[in-house]
This record gives sequence, C-alpha cells and structure tokens, in this order.
Amino acid sequence: MPSTVALALLALTALWALKIFRQSTRNLAAAKASGIKYTWAPFLLYNNAYMLACIVIVPIVRCLPKSWTEPWFDMTLVDWEWARRYEPFKRFGSDTFMVVTPERNVIFTADADVISQLTTRRNDFPKPLELYESLRLYGNNVVTSEGQLWRHHRKITSPPFSEKNNHLVFAETLAQCQDMVDSWMDGEEESSKTIHTIADDAMRLSLHVISRGGFGVPLKWPTKTKATENGHVKGEEGNTSSASVSKGHTMSYADALGSLLHSLFPLIIVPKFLLRNLPFQWAKTTYTSYDEWGDYMKEILQAKKSAVLTGTEGDNLDLMIAMIKGAGNTAESASKGEASRQTLSDDEILGNAFIFILAGHETTADSIHFCLALLAINIAAQRHLQSDLDEIFQGRPPSQWDYDQDVPKLFGSMAGAVMNEELRLIPPVIGIPKSTAKGSPQTLIIDGKKCTVPENTLITLNTTATHRNPNQWPTGPPSDPGHPTHPLSNRDNDLEEFKPSRWLLDPNSKASTTNIPNQDNNINTEASTLGVNTSADTSSSLYRPPKGAYIPFSEGYRSCLGRRFAQVEILTVLALIFSQYSVELAVDAYASDEEVEKMSEREKREVWEKAKREVERQMREDMGTVITLQLRKGSIGLRFVRRGRERFDW
Ligand code: HEM
Ligand SMILES: *[C@@H]1O[C@H](CO)[C@@H](O)[C@H](O)[C@H]1NC(C)=O
Ligand SMILES: *[C@@H]1O[C@H](CO)[C@@H](O)[C@H](O)[C@H]1NC(C)=O
Ligand SMILES: *[C@@H]1O[C@H](CO)[C@@H](O)[C@H](O)[C@H]1NC(C)=O
Repeated sequence: MPSTVALALLALTALWALKIFRQSTRNLAAAKASGIKYTWAPFLLYNNAYMLACIVIVPIVRCLPKSWTEPWFDMTLVDWEWARRYEPFKRFGSDTFMVVTPERNVIFTADADVISQLTTRRNDFPKPLELYESLRLYGNNVVTSEGQLWRHHRKITSPPFSEKNNHLVFAETLAQCQDMVDSWMDGEEESSKTIHTIADDAMRLSLHVISRGGFGVPLKWPTKTKATENGHVKGEEGNTSSASVSKGHTMSYADALGSLLHSLFPLIIVPKFLLRNLPFQWAKTTYTSYDEWGDYMKEILQAKKSAVLTGTEGDNLDLMIAMIKGAGNTAESASKGEASRQTLSDDEILGNAFIFILAGHETTADSIHFCLALLAINIAAQRHLQSDLDEIFQGRPPSQWDYDQDVPKLFGSMAGAVMNEELRLIPPVIGIPKSTAKGSPQTLIIDGKKCTVPENTLITLNTTATHRNPNQWPTGPPSDPGHPTHPLSNRDNDLEEFKPSRWLLDPNSKASTTNIPNQDNNINTEASTLGVNTSADTSSSLYRPPKGAYIPFSEGYRSCLGRRFAQVEILTVLALIFSQYSVELAVDAYASDEEVEKMSEREKREVWEKAKREVERQMREDMGTVITLQLRKGSIGLRFVRRGRERFDW
C-alpha cells in the first residue's frame, strides 16, 4: 500500500518535472527566435506563491556559490528594480531584454522608443489583467479592464477630470494644506518642532483632497487639543458629518475609509466570506470597513443621482457627479419621465470611485512627501523655488491666489521643475505592466531591428530605469564623484541626483524644445474621445524629454486620468508651503538645538551633511513598494521655519 502511494507521488513529480521541462524548452525556443537579448531565471517574478516562498528561498539561495546564482538571483528579488535602478540594463548591455522562466517569459525595458511603441499599440500589447485582479475590490473599473469594456469605462470616467474639477482640487488643497502646516507649527511663530509624521500627513492631505474633489465629501483635519502632561499632543477628529457615525452605520465615513485603506492587503488576499466569518478582530474590522465604506458610497451615489435628476447638484463639479451625468442621467430626461438608461451601472460607478481613491491617494502623497525631503537636502533649489513663488504671487496671500492665473505659472516655474524631477527620481509606480496575448506574437522594433515578442509574454516598463537612462537623458558630470548618489547606477553622470534645474530651459536657447515633437502622431482621433491627452506631461516652458523617456503617469491610451488632478495638488502644496516657510533637515540625532545655536558656520555644515547623508541613505535603502514606492522603515524628520529664520542657509 505505502509503495503504491510512493509510486503515485513519484509519477506525479515526474509528470510535473516533464511539464516544467517542456515549458522551459518552449519558452527558451521562443526567446531564441525573438531576436531579443535574453537571460534566464528559475522562477517567475510576479508569481504570488513565489512572493511568499521568498521568505524561505532567499536565505537558502544566499548560501549557494555565487557563480551559480549570479546571473539571475538579484533579478528575482522583489524591489530589485528600485535597488539597482539603471544598473542591470547597463550590465546587460541592452535597454530591453527578456528573462526566460519555466512559467512565462518576461521582458524588461527602459528604452523610450520601445516604450512608445508599446503604449500606442494598445490592442497589440494589452494589460495583463491577471495582475490587476486585486484592484477590482468594488467592481470592474477603468484600470482593471481591457478592450471594449475599457473603452466603455474610459469614455465615462475621463470627462470628469475637467478644468472645473481642477478648480475644486486647487481650492481644497489650499485649505487642507494650510491646516496641515498649522498642525506642524502648533502655534509656534518661527519654527516647528521636528516633524516625523510627514508621510502620514501627506497621505491624509491627499485623501481629503480626493474625498472632496472626487465625491464632494469634506473631511476635516484633526484639530490639536491641549498637550498632555508628558508633552504629547493628542489629535481629535473634527466634528463633521463625515467624522461621525451616521444612521444605519457602525463606523464613520472617515474611519471606514481610513481602515479600508489600511487593510487593503488582507482584503485582497483573503476571500470576503472568510473575512466575514473568521473569529479574529482584525478580520471583522477589515470586513466591516469594506462593507461600511461601500454602503456610504452607495448612499452618496443615490443622493447625488437624485440631485442630478432634479437639477439641484450645484456647480461644484466633483468626479462622481460628473460620472453620473456622463452615464446619461439628466434633469431634462427625468422631467420628461424617460426611464433612466444609465450607460454605466451603479456598481461600475462605485468600482471607479474606489479606483480614483486608490490610484490618486498614495501616489500623490508619496510625491508630496519626497518633494519636501528632497528640497530639504537641496537648499539652493529651495531658494530658487521661493524666489519663483515670490515672482508669481507678488506678496498676495493664498486667499487671493487664482487658479486660472497662477497655476499655469507654477507649472512653468521651479515648482514644476521640482515636481517633474521628484517624479523622475522616485516615480510612485516603478513598473508598468503590459503583455502579449496568448496566440498573438507581436513585432517590435528594438534598436532599429525588427524583433518578435512571443505570445503570452509579460512586459514591464521599468520606470525608475527609464528615467535614469543616459542614452535618452542629457547628462552632466556627477556633482561629488567622491560620494556617488548610488553605489552602482550612473556613477559617471548626474542622473541619480535631484537636480530640478535640469528642467529649466536657458531662456536664450530654444534648442531643446524645437527638435522634440510635442504631439503623438501615432494616436489617432479615437484618442480624443477617450480622453487620452496627447500633449506633453510638462509645461511648454520646461525641458521636454523625448517621447517614452519620462513616464511617471504612463503614456498613450492607458495613461493616468488623474495626471492634472495630481499635478495641481502637488504644485499647490509646494506653493503654499514654500511661499511662507523653508523646510530644513532635522539634526537632532547629531546635536541639540542649544549646540547648533553655538556652532560656527563650518560646524553647522558638518552636522547638516551628516543628516543629509542619512536621508539619502533612507531614500535609497529603506524604500519598498506594495502599491506604490514609499519609505517602509523609519521616518524622515523635517522642520518648518518661517522664511528668514533658517538655521541652515547657504
Ligand atoms: C503623482 C500622482 C500619480 C501618479 C504618479 C500616477 C501614475 C499612474 C500610472 C503609472 C498609471 C498607469 C498604470 C498602469 O498602466 O497600470 C495610472 C493610471 C491611472 N491613474 Fe494615475 N497617477 C497619479 C495620480 C492619479 C490621481 C490623482 C487619479 C485620480 C483621482 C489617478 C487615476 C488614474 C486612473 C483612473 C488610471 C487608469 C487609466 C486607464 O487605465 O485608462 N491617478 N496612473
Ligand atoms: C522591472 O520592473 C519589475 C517590476 O517592478 C521588476 O520586478 C524587475 O526586477 C525590473 N527589472 C529591472 C531590470 O530593473
Ligand atoms: C458633533 O456635534 C453635534 C452637535 O454639536 C453632536 O450632537 C454630535 O454628537 C457630535 N459628534 C461627534 C462625533 O462628536
Ligand atoms: C492636456 O494636458 C495639457 C497639459 O497638462 C492641458 O493644458 C490641456 O488642457 C489638456 N487637454 C485636454 C483636452 O484635457
């Protein structure tokens, strides 16, 4: 009997090995025939089972002789891309290469020309929808669909991202950002204490802005109350409707959303019915927040729908109202008694509402967080930014700022340059997935050579490497060759450095703008009906990277719908903070305030340099990506000081 079981097991193992072997030879043959440079790895990087198995595999593989594992090991580590940046492409000697695995072949690219082919041929290179499963939490939506279904979603979700909505984003960002700064200053006039909550605060800010701009739900910044004996300050939610528990609910809107966003991981991997029935508190809370936020959104949707149908929605155009209208609901049709023929179902509107929060919340917050950190370590850029802001606002207080007049100027100034440069260096989305469908190999021109991407191949546009590719970005010498910004990547040039000035054009030379076509000729008129904005990401008065070289918001048909929403938000935050304050590195780890007070200029520079090195190390080593690239360990401590009151100024 045991021998039968053993035999059966043996047979199964042999069958499995045979299957792996046959797949491997087939994948290898396809790679050879493709004309694309390739290497191999023993497992697929995107496999979920592998991600878990990593915990066991990595320490074992580390013990094997390096010569066995060298070619593929580092490539199989999650977050490898952030760690290595452009280096693997340089080492490999090609800006596009394929990794053969037994499961599926994967192509990585940092090549602008290849990227523009991939993003303009949307039918040839669809999104691998299996990687987007988790984003379907509340229903199908514009991010998680392809083909006809995607066109259908995109047609209705793109018009809401209008200039009218951007006005709302601008106004709400100004209000929220002022509250954020006030909470940092905590009643002090000249200088804040060291703030360690900037990442969380930026998250809160962007959540509040999308909640208002997306669904018309205002959220209030928690107001600080009296300090307790041990000096800690207790936060308290503001008393607004969204912070209190409404009838029929067990959680407030704000709590449900906050808790939902904190429990995305379990929500994605644990089936809902299990979550509901598991006897653990975390499972209950997770399920409840999912359920409650969904219910709130349904109520909001119904309320807005009846407002639209009676023509009482007002003119603060949030995204949801615009979606409801775009889906075919109007007051006229209602008054004529026509049955509402909604082209997007309530579930689909909800699915998209959720995706707006998910896509727009972390990404924008990450950018704001790292803009502040990068400006703290680049004093000259900060002063340049401040002088541009003075020029734009001419002493007008934020209450007199005007979207139409001021925002275009911000785009074209050092504020735009800082934003572009931050998104170049730390793009929130580090890998943009594409694929070829089963049975559908595709030709692709690589380095002028016609290649064939095999069927069923995964493709990743490697954003971080693309943005640092010296073959497609102008470079200068490294500013401090003795201390390279990255130990491996781009040691001989300045592409790893935060240098917003690379975006500023010499006003006397138009050279860099004239030879780069602004419009994308490959995208036909269909694009405009799908809200695909083919104009460049960056202001016309700033440097225009070649097409495909700068893709923080992706490019082409599947490019980010919230691009301008996010840009307006980031620019407004920069303008509000830096028109009044400077941001400085905290040096608490090296010297007390009293000690700094007594320091000579040279000693001050020394402690500041130490703090700077540490922040640079954090941004290099302590980062990781779950949905977006963030600091995953510790925090970057910064101080906000009134302009003119800087401790470190040179
Ligand atoms: C700095 C901020 C942001 C960055 C860096 C960013 C980046 C991206 C990227 C790279 C994609 C393509 C994803 C893919 O192909 O898998 C994308 C798509 C998308 N983004 Fe953003 N995003 C930002 C802010 C926003 C905001 C604020 C919203 C909405 C309020 C938003 C809504 C969307 C939507 C709806 C799509 C899907 C478009 C489609 O597939 O047709 N994003 N974004
Ligand atoms: C490209 O990006 C993917 C996804 O982020 C990552 O797994 C891979 O290691 C990257 N490849 C290179 C060569 O950087
Ligand atoms: C908010 O204020 C109202 C009236 O002042 C009060 O009835 C309500 O209980 C408060 N809600 C919360 C959550 O504090
Ligand atoms: C496209 O984007 C540019 C720059 O962000 C903006 O000025 C323009 O109004 C947008 N066009 C449309 C049709 O949305």
